[in-house]
Amino acid sequence: MHWIVCPDEKAQARACAAIIAAQVLQKPSSALGFATGSSPLKTYAELIELKRQGVVSFSQVMTFNLDEYVGLPCGHPQSYCRFMWDNLFTGMDMREEQVHIPNGMAADLDAECRAYEQAIADAGGIDLQLLGIGHDGHIAFNEPGAEFSRFTHVETLNARTVEANKRFFESADDVPRTALSMGVGSIMRARRILLTAYGKDKAEIIREAFLGPVTPALSASILQFHSDCTIVLDREAAGSLG
Ligand code: GLP
Repeated sequence: MHWIVCPDEKAQARACAAIIAAQVLQKPSSALGFATGSSPLKTYAELIELKRQGVVSFSQVMTFNLDEYVGLPCGHPQSYCRFMWDNLFTGMDMREEQVHIPNGMAADLDAECRAYEQAIADAGGIDLQLLGIGHDGHIAFNEPGAEFSRFTHVETLNARTVEANKRFFESADDVPRTALSMGVGSIMRARRILLTAYGKDKAEIIREAFLGPVTPALSASILQFHSDCTIVLDREAAGSLG
């Protein structure tokens, strides 16, 4: 694993954006995996700035998002689809046909999961996958469990995740209890991984996930076995690494 510890959140976002931009400069038709949540937000703003400066173009990329709530249409303000268009895709002038996000409104969710895996395979696999990490160590929505999930699937969110994500909704009751999520296997098949986290409240889980044992009780820990995984942190999130 490669570690990059940045002095602050701004430098961290710039580092992540630079890595993603370099990937696209080297392979303009890259398949990029994107994440939602607060961790990648500033990275997305930096990417839009790099586009504005003419450094990078997403005109040929394909994108695959990690997850989506079940039951929220793309127009819903808290859907991950809407998050991505508002925070990245519109600013990068992306066309709908370039973008893949699991459809949480699909009538047959299992068929949607299978089709999503097929779409990733048809694109030749993901070149670079951006990840955040949940407070319980989840990546995408892969909650602590007895085994690592292999493929995109329907996941039931645990109470801690509902609690963490309720800040985006009116109340905890409004947070969907299920989501479609790429599996840990789907993520591990990406050729490169870029995980980003900032702030004190992620310091302990970063230490446990990457210096502790590899276990499905903490799905991010399997990234220790990925051959090309870069972790980009600010000083606070790196604070428990010793
Ligand atoms: C959600 C998402 C994850 C994300 C996590 C952490 O549960 N499904 O992909 O990594 O939240 O979010 P944040 O970056 O806001 O801490």
